[in-house]
Amino acid sequence: MTTMCLLHICLVLLFSTEIYSLDCNLLHFQQNKVNTESLELLNKMGGQFPLQCLNENRNFEFPQKALRPRESQKENAKVVIQEILQQIFYIFSKNLTQAAWDRSFIELFQNGLHQQTEQLEKCLHSEMENKTPYLGNEKLLSPMLKLKKYFKKIGDFLKEKQYSLCAWETIRLEMGRCLLFVDQLIKRLQN
Ligand SMILES: *[C@@H]1O[C@H](CO)[C@@H](O)[C@H](O)[C@H]1NC(C)=O
Repeated sequence: MTTMCLLHICLVLLFSTEIYSLDCNLLHFQQNKVNTESLELLNKMGGQFPLQCLNENRNFEFPQKALRPRESQKENAKVVIQEILQQIFYIFSKNLTQAAWDRSFIELFQNGLHQQTEQLEKCLHSEMENKTPYLGNEKLLSPMLKLKKYFKKIGDFLKEKQYSLCAWETIRLEMGRCLLFVDQLIKRLQN
């Protein structure tokens, strides 16, 4: 019994040190871990794509080309990842009643997105102290607008379809593609 309690305390301590001693040099490693988990959760929460929803298939035109920052611009990759994750979080905060997905998986998924965004935020701040803030980065302006437009299309689609099961399934599939792209961006964060 005592051993079990001690073990529990150790685990709690281990977990908190992990959060508070975030090393921004290892950011890509932590981001990759959570992103992989998010992709798995997205698959688990609803299982297979329902066949009756196949005719909902749409092209939302993810602005892939515009969002590929050059190799040297790690900060840009961080900003883009952060925006994508925040937008996905926002989409999954909409009316999920008809989606019939596993609640606990949805919550874990959202927690992961939140955690990832926080990590990025922290590492962006520590890096930006001696540089111009990214908000003034003109190179990012157009790609970010395209990204916002893409997510607006997603939001409009869900609304137009009244958050139906098939609309949600289509978006779950689409968000999986987004996270795969995030995966590519995370690779650019490596030294
Ligand atoms: C969500 O949608 C369901 C029906 O699909 C509706 O009954 C419910 O009121 C909606 N909830 C909100 C908060 O809009």
